[in-house]
Amino acid sequence: MAVILDGKKLRDKILSDLKLKIDKFEKKPKLVVILAGDNPASKIYVNNKKKTAEKLGILSQVIEYPSNVSENELLDKISELNKDETVTAVLVQLPLPSHISKENIMNSIAPEKDVDGFTPYNFGKLFSGEEPMVYPCTPKGILLLLKEYDIELEGKHVVIIGRSNIVGRPLSQMMLNKNATVTVCHSHTKNLPDIIKTADVVVSAAGKNIIKGEMLKNNCVVVDVGIFKDENGKTRGDVDFESASRIASYISPVPGGVGPMTITSLMLNTVELFEKSL
Ligand code: GUN
Repeated sequence: MAVILDGKKLRDKILSDLKLKIDKFEKKPKLVVILAGDNPASKIYVNNKKKTAEKLGILSQVIEYPSNVSENELLDKISELNKDETVTAVLVQLPLPSHISKENIMNSIAPEKDVDGFTPYNFGKLFSGEEPMVYPCTPKGILLLLKEYDIELEGKHVVIIGRSNIVGRPLSQMMLNKNATVTVCHSHTKNLPDIIKTADVVVSAAGKNIIKGEMLKNNCVVVDVGIFKDENGKTRGDVDFESASRIASYISPVPGGVGPMTITSLMLNTVELFEKSL
């Protein structure tokens, strides 16, 4: 049976250390989250971010807008936050309402306050093999989780399913930095099962239930980034946990795997940006 990659346990350990560090700061970091529209999942995520920040002594503010907010209104607010010296981290929750250009919004965040690492400056740094101000939260959380369990990536074949800007693309670069051999698969990939069969590490961020135990190579590592409710209202991921945990050597559960690590990384990034601002 596979060892469980326990994101909650690692979150608790990292955040309790982080709190001690924040307690010693004279001035506190401040994270501002912009939430536009009424995506129910986004509301839950944003609420979690705020609650976690507050527990750690990070100042936090959520600014909510209705789904018909104009792009200019958001750009004006971001410009104001960029100038506000008390604000050290800005996050615009995705997805944005469809009439708003994600590119224009991301472009407008000051790179030194870009706590997601999603601005063209930080993304460009990452993709040129240079150091961004911070690394995107979900990929960073995945790497922290693998490191905690001493899972080496050098020379390993890592198969990432999903090419989003939030997970697949930045993770591919971060895995390359660790000297892994990386294959990024997506909805147009041919022979996905053949590729998965050759993976030492599978990271699934497909958002649908696609991975079964029999598809995996023996003793591989499985990281499940998917999270959704099934027809019975049960929270689950992309991977059939039962069958996969019989084949894999390590597996991240849903819930309790990558999710807690994403929020942990956001808190780490908030503190990193704050320290760089001093
Ligand atoms: N929506 C889902 N995940 C994320 C994330 O990591 N950052 C932002 N800004 N929006 C998201």
